[in-house]
Amino acid sequence: MAGRVREWLDERLGWKALAVRLLDGRVELKGAWLRTSGVTCLVLVLVECVSGAALAQFYTPSTAAAYKDIQAMQQDHLGRLIRGVHHWGSAALIVLALFAIARMFFGGEYKRKFDVVWIAALLFSQIVLLFQLTGHLLPWDTNAVATANVEGGFVGNLWGIGPFLKRLILGGSVAGASTLTRWYSLHVTVLPLLLVFLVGLPLFAYRLHQGASGSVGPHRSDGPPRERFYPNHMAREMLIALGVFVLVLVLAVSRGAPLELEATAANLENDYQALAEWYVLPMHALTLIPPFNRVEVEPIATVVLPGGLFLILLALPFIDRNPSRRFAKRPFAAAAGVVVIGGTILLYGYAYIRERPLATKQNERIATAKCERAPVVDANLAVKGKELYDKLTPACNTCHAIIGKGGTTGPDLTHAGTLHPDRDWQIEHLIRPESRVPGSTMPAYGSIAKPDEIRALAEYMLSLR
Ligand code: HEC
Repeated sequence: MAGRVREWLDERLGWKALAVRLLDGRVELKGAWLRTSGVTCLVLVLVECVSGAALAQFYTPSTAAAYKDIQAMQQDHLGRLIRGVHHWGSAALIVLALFAIARMFFGGEYKRKFDVVWIAALLFSQIVLLFQLTGHLLPWDTNAVATANVEGGFVGNLWGIGPFLKRLILGGSVAGASTLTRWYSLHVTVLPLLLVFLVGLPLFAYRLHQGASGSVGPHRSDGPPRERFYPNHMAREMLIALGVFVLVLVLAVSRGAPLELEATAANLENDYQALAEWYVLPMHALTLIPPFNRVEVEPIATVVLPGGLFLILLALPFIDRNPSRRFAKRPFAAAAGVVVIGGTILLYGYAYIRERPLATKQNERIATAKCERAPVVDANLAVKGKELYDKLTPACNTCHAIIGKGGTTGPDLTHAGTLHPDRDWQIEHLIRPESRVPGSTMPAYGSIAKPDEIRALAEYMLSLR
């Protein structure tokens, strides 16, 4: 039965001949293990499509619903896993694309007929980066919205067309409802189409036309040792793809995908500052170094340098007339490559040193706000606070109940420490409740109790979890 279906399909679509052509050819044995990112990228793109389609079933691209949808997914084991896979799979794609480009550059693989593969790889790297940038906004958390505003700011600072471009990209002057719908549609329709038409189809046609051996030139019996693409090299590719997929799974389970607080006005004020994501960090670091930190010079760091580098790489097969593919015989290309990679590493180091304090502070804030990391309570102080709770006038228990005992004028305090796991909040609130809860009718204990008594009471509140 299956055989007859296969025959029926083959008669109409010619699949057998197609498969033979796709899998035909031999590859050079030397460095074969390094030339294995193709199938892995293909597998990861499929993983992103499937996990992305699953996520889209439970997601509404509106500022009111987006964060709540993602939060609901995080509550569900399967939802969290799929989100994690989508997140780490996309990170792996960026790393793989950059690795493939570096390998092709240093191996001189962009020469001869391989130039189309080189161009496809470069376009691929930019498309996966755009997938990242647009996808990052979708959870609508504080980091998403703040980074979108930073990106909008970079675009807006471009000479001349900046303000217009910024409006076009954000759909307004700051990231808002129109930004979310615009970026969502880019993420789920425009970018997938670009991927198919700019990368997928050309590579498919190339492969049909050249076969697997097109990558290393015509077969010569006196040339370097070669091996059949199928099944020998294919086995290598499958093994690497499997390894990367397992790594993505492990990261998805152990680390999950990040989610900060919802991007409400209240969460975004309070000196919230977006941390740059790792894939834009070198560029971000450059904008912090004089003279690039000046608005008029900034576009050199954000557009001219990265854009220029991209254009040079794109034109490389046509500029580089040196026929040798050997690293040692291409001193100029080798030096340029080392300078770019070295510069990027230095910028990473600089960004790491500069942003670390901010990152630590931001993570603490988020963990506290999400009650993941409740402050450690001083038990002795809390006991003193417990005594004061009943002794002060007016006594707290006239208005508040703890585990069913006490007044009902104020809210129940059985879980006061979980509700506000923040020492400063508790102290400030006790001193002047209105400073934390506008319109609060609770008496201000700042004028009733001494500072150390306030501290003891706050400690008692923190202990109520
Ligand atoms: C006259 C009544 C009254 C007294 C007395 C009073 N409170 Fe309150 N309390 C309130 C009201 C009303 C609120 C709700 C408004 C607010 O959050 O400020 C409140 C809120 C709170 C909250 C915040 C609850 C939440 O939402 O997490 C805490 C904590 C608290 N009180 C602690 C105390 C402590 C400790 C004392 C004693 C030192 C005390 N209160 C005395 C009326 C009172």
